[in-house]
Amino acid sequence: MKSSKELAQSLSADLENKTPQEILKFCLERFKGAIALSSSLGLEDQVLTDMVAKISPQTTIFTLDTGRLFPETYDLIDRTCSKYKVKIKVYFPNREDVEEMVNQKGINLFYHSVENRKECCRIRKLVPLKRAFQGLDAWICGLRRDQSVTRKDMQTVEWDEANGLIKINPLINWSEQDAWDYVNEHSVPVNSLHKKGYPSIGCLPCTRAIEPGEDIRAGRWWWENPETKECGLHKKG
Ligand code: ADX
Ligand code: SF4
Repeated sequence: MKSSKELAQSLSADLENKTPQEILKFCLERFKGAIALSSSLGLEDQVLTDMVAKISPQTTIFTLDTGRLFPETYDLIDRTCSKYKVKIKVYFPNREDVEEMVNQKGINLFYHSVENRKECCRIRKLVPLKRAFQGLDAWICGLRRDQSVTRKDMQTVEWDEANGLIKINPLINWSEQDAWDYVNEHSVPVNSLHKKGYPSIGCLPCTRAIEPGEDIRAGRWWWENPETKECGLHKKG
């Protein structure tokens, strides 16, 4: 029998030249009842939501509400649920953990050190993500290889060692323009901040608009080095 890692490698080899819709169709059937789309409501996740809602509308879609999101993102959650007649399942961080962290380290602790920032991401995203994973064998993400140096070696299907799950990245080979072309062609609702210089959107205090010519993730944790700019959701095994 194949190990989970071997299964991911063979699925990836079979699927890497397929379209995102073909990848989704195959994986939604292969992992039926134990697969979910993890959405930050970003551009790529909205493309995937549109595709998933058209292929299999009962698929679980979840989002991690850190408590520090932009008002525009909350608005988009609402608009997306209405348009596609889906429920986006919202996971919140543990109240005691957040209270202890901010009371000890400050409400905006993330600006003071990379360590603090990672602790905040751990409590507000990684711990709730573990709960979202219960009962799942596979998760679907909106990662693209050209988003950052930390993502250039990612595959269509991977064994996510850190989380013990199969991870599916249907848009891994897409450019940002491919995503915009899809959004425009299919009238997909997107975050109103994209048009105001925010190509990549996370939490409000940790995301700023970028200038023309700047890297698309330059506005995420802009005070840190590119190598540390991951929240831990997508670390390599
Ligand atoms: S991050 O690691 O820097 O925050 P990014 O915003 O690029 O990630 O999103 C990459 C993918 O991670 C998204 O396409 C989505 O699948 C997942 N993701 C990121 N943030 C969230 C969130 N708040 N809730 C659910 N999934 C998320
Ligand atoms: Fe906290 Fe910023 Fe991470 Fe959001 S992105 S969880 S506010 S450190």
